[in-house]
Amino acid sequence: MKRRIGVGYVSMGEEEKRLVNRVLSTNRLSYGPMCQKFEENWARLHGRTHGVTCNSGTSALEVILHAFRIERRWRDGDVVFIPALTFIANISTVLRQNLVPHFVDIDPSTYTMDPQKLDGEISRVKKEGRNAVAVIPVHLAGLPADMEPITQRARKEKLAVIEDSCEAVGALYRGRPVGSFGDAASFSTYSAHIITTGMGGIITTKKKTTAVLCRSLINHGRDPVYIDIDDDTRSSPDIVDRRFRFRHLGYSYRLTELEAAIGLGQLKRLQQVLTQRRRIANLFTKNLHVFKHNLKLPTVPEDRTHSWMIYPIVANNDINRDNLIHHLERHGIETRPLMPLLNQPAVIEAVGNQEDQYPVAKRIARQGFYIGCHQGMTKTDVEYIKNVLKKFFL
Ligand SMILES: Cc1ncc(COP(=O)(O)O)c(C=O)c1O
Repeated sequence: MKRRIGVGYVSMGEEEKRLVNRVLSTNRLSYGPMCQKFEENWARLHGRTHGVTCNSGTSALEVILHAFRIERRWRDGDVVFIPALTFIANISTVLRQNLVPHFVDIDPSTYTMDPQKLDGEISRVKKEGRNAVAVIPVHLAGLPADMEPITQRARKEKLAVIEDSCEAVGALYRGRPVGSFGDAASFSTYSAHIITTGMGGIITTKKKTTAVLCRSLINHGRDPVYIDIDDDTRSSPDIVDRRFRFRHLGYSYRLTELEAAIGLGQLKRLQQVLTQRRRIANLFTKNLHVFKHNLKLPTVPEDRTHSWMIYPIVANNDINRDNLIHHLERHGIETRPLMPLLNQPAVIEAVGNQEDQYPVAKRIARQGFYIGCHQGMTKTDVEYIKNVLKKFFL
């Protein structure tokens, strides 16, 4: 069979199977003890008191934005800063909440939001007389964004900070976990991610009222007095009256007990998975160093710990990136472009073509790509990738 090295990797251990079987034997599939434990463990791991499960990282982002709209009285047209290179969900969720995305160029070595550029964009928005309400730093590829200057500036401007941590479970910035810096954070447990439940997402926050509101929004905007079937057992007149009352126009974005059971099992292996990913990343960095005149390998600032959801590579400007990725694909090495955003047809249709205003993001979007960096890979895979690259360059 032809060799195939994927960008993601799914493997279910005995613990996941045991917990899923336990769910099946209880006949309890909707929000219950597995979801609660998963939320608790996830929030604790990321330095937060509250976790709220939902069905995707995109739902998590959308619900946080909606909750903040209500809590902070945001209005249609308020501005949200997002990186100029990131996953599509960062713009689609902002637009769906009738907010205006304002791009911030990225740092050329980490590919995350550049704090100095954020300063410039804040001044620009102010000068134009528009009202900015939030910033969404994205921990791209598993590497934390430069959170200290970003949060400092955000606090000064009274902007909410929403950490998009969908790609970075377990990553650290100055020894502190991602998710513990902002007002809320979104995580994804989609199949290609580090910890997977198939589909899934989690919101973390330290504020109880925000968590309660997010949970209500995920449940159709239902009165928070009645969120799961256990509330029926407390059949006080209050619950009976309010069981079918909706405070907000919400969503049906819930996670099931089956997915939470998988997630709980996966979480137990998180440190082992991260160690394996770091080992593969180190092997890549050692082995691919020979291509330093053609390829820029990822840099990890000393104050950060990478989770390596993927391994990003940027080809020098004189290399035809598309020919290179087709060469890799022909040899069974799966690739993706490195999260180009501004040149996507849907983005151009929604906000016009703004690529030229964000030169770093424009270059990385054209020359960047990523390959897998996961626990399903071996030293032999890394050597194979090196040899395939050699065929292209030498
Ligand atoms: C940075 C980022 N944000 C949000 C998401 C959305 O997560 P999901 O696919 O679970 O909706 C992703 C998904 O890959 C992502 O990479």
